[in-house]
Amino acid sequence: MKATALAHPNIALVKYWGKRDDALILPHQSSLSMTLAPLSVTTTVEFGVASDQVEINGHTAKGSERDRVLRVLEAVRAEAQGKPGPARMVSRGDFPASAGLASSAAAFAALAVAARAAAGLPGDPKAASVLARLGSGSACRSVQGGFCEWKKGERADGADSYAVQRFDEKHWPELRMVVAVLNREEKEVKSRDGMKHTVETSPYYEAWKRDAEAEVPRAVELLQRKDLQGLGELSERNAWRMHATGLAADPPLCYLNASTLGLIQHLREQRKKGIPVWFTLDAGPNPVLLTDAAHEVKAEALARACGAVEVVRCVPGGDAVLKSEHLF
Ligand code: PMV
Repeated sequence: MKATALAHPNIALVKYWGKRDDALILPHQSSLSMTLAPLSVTTTVEFGVASDQVEINGHTAKGSERDRVLRVLEAVRAEAQGKPGPARMVSRGDFPASAGLASSAAAFAALAVAARAAAGLPGDPKAASVLARLGSGSACRSVQGGFCEWKKGERADGADSYAVQRFDEKHWPELRMVVAVLNREEKEVKSRDGMKHTVETSPYYEAWKRDAEAEVPRAVELLQRKDLQGLGELSERNAWRMHATGLAADPPLCYLNASTLGLIQHLREQRKKGIPVWFTLDAGPNPVLLTDAAHEVKAEALARACGAVEVVRCVPGGDAVLKSEHLF
């Protein structure tokens, strides 16, 4: 009744921004991401204990953090035969301390894989992806490695809204994502609240939805061809459009700051000099640079020159996997 799993985070090249169902975390559009190594979260789950206990990075989880974990555990209990009972969950990330990097995608993917195994359910990437999605939308894309597409699905119960692997991590091992942490502070508006506000008040939302959906197959084709310039341009375009949709909300939602724009401007100048480096930007001020193995050191240096306080160079990561060593 005990199992442990390790999962990596992911960064989207075509972002998910907006839900059609807040409770089940069903998106309005499909998205596509790269799973990132070496960053990871390890989670151990044991069923059949006295009461539910949730511990994340040495702290007892409370409030919505705890509720999201319990929601995933509840879904596992509903699927498992023989009612596995209350659970203890302990989770630990190896992300650099306070680096401003979101670990929730890796955390919920590890939880989904560990909880299913602990409850005696068979390994099943699709089922684990649906389960991870209940904790955090983007987590459904961290169950498998390489490059994963989250299909938005049509059903009201969310059974067809999960991620599928398009290419594994060996497809393009030279591709790099360089996380440039410009600001360690927690963002003011969480993704969950920001996207809800955007859906409700941005007149650009319908255009975002349509455009992002159409970009997914184009991104798959560029990945297939290993076209770095094409993928870099697509990823910048998609990030700008997500942020533009938020900027058009009422009141406006702005995640960028002056140093974000400074780095973006610097990348533009570097490209003119022939350095192949592009960016993507989630719901925060810290860009993630897209480049290749031959230019990752250069990308790190230019991020630091633009004020990055921490830089993490990432390669395509693998699937979430079960481990034989437990955290308790
Ligand atoms: O899954 P969440 O609630 O962490 O939202 C993720 C939203 C973005 O990171 C901005 C985009 C994405 O697709 O990962």
